[in-house]
Amino acid sequence: MKINGETKIIGFFGATYKTSKMYAMYNAVFEKLGLNFVYVPFVVEDIKKGVEAIRSLGIHAVGVTIPFKISIMRHVDGLDQDAKRIGAVNVVVNKNGKLIGGNTDGKGGVKALKEKTMVKGKKVILLGAGGAARALAFAIKDEGGELTILNRTLDDAKELAKRVGCQFGGLEKLSELMPTTNIVINSTSVGMFPDISKSLVEKKLFHKGLVVMDIVSNPKETKLLKEAKESGCQVIFADRMLLWQGVLKFKIYTGVEPPVEVMEAALKK
Ligand code: ATR
Repeated sequence: MKINGETKIIGFFGATYKTSKMYAMYNAVFEKLGLNFVYVPFVVEDIKKGVEAIRSLGIHAVGVTIPFKISIMRHVDGLDQDAKRIGAVNVVVNKNGKLIGGNTDGKGGVKALKEKTMVKGKKVILLGAGGAARALAFAIKDEGGELTILNRTLDDAKELAKRVGCQFGGLEKLSELMPTTNIVINSTSVGMFPDISKSLVEKKLFHKGLVVMDIVSNPKETKLLKEAKESGCQVIFADRMLLWQGVLKFKIYTGVEPPVEVMEAALKK
């Protein structure tokens, strides 16, 4: 990688800037394709100042993650349709001084699903109604999935379902809906380290042919996915979503379709 006066800088704004795998993923592809871009961490404490820095330093784009996905919205100049609907931003692009926020989380999730199954016409249960669920819900609906949102707090499920235009219910609906469901996605934090002994789906409810995806990435194999696998279901790990939301961002950063296998290999290292 040769840095020169023309190099476009892509920054990372997020609390996980020290441990993020994104540097390896993007820089490997910039190198491979001979693109004059570099992906670097920024230590951001005050998001307003962080956004001012994008403007004043002419940074080409930034990847955005926790805790700035919502707070960054009011400092940019515009939002694309995905960011607007989801109500969160995971990428900001500097278009000749105009900063536009986007969000690739939902579409990345659907890409991960589509590696294993069609979504169109399939019955999908989405567990959760928080930020992650919001991103996935719109993308699944766009793809033609028959969506039901189930959440511990019924009002939140109802609210999101109203905006998306789908069915909703409480978690107790799981046992009734599971036998006829094709895809189940956990978009809650249940099962995440250190509480790894938890899952929202009882093992007896899984059936062969079901596709089960979890957004929880630590541990990689959550209790939900372990039990689904043992029951003959197809499982999708959270790192596939991470990969695909990154692939979509790459296109936004550079305008170029990245070689997915290079990004995948860099992520695995
Ligand atoms: P994120 O932005 O990561 O989605 P969030 O907005 O805090 O995080 O949402 C967390 C989701 O996990 C919510 O749907 C939450 O359910 P409630 O709306 O009832 O709070 C769900 N969740 C968290 N802990 C849970 C638990 N122990 N059982 C069931 N659902 C849980």
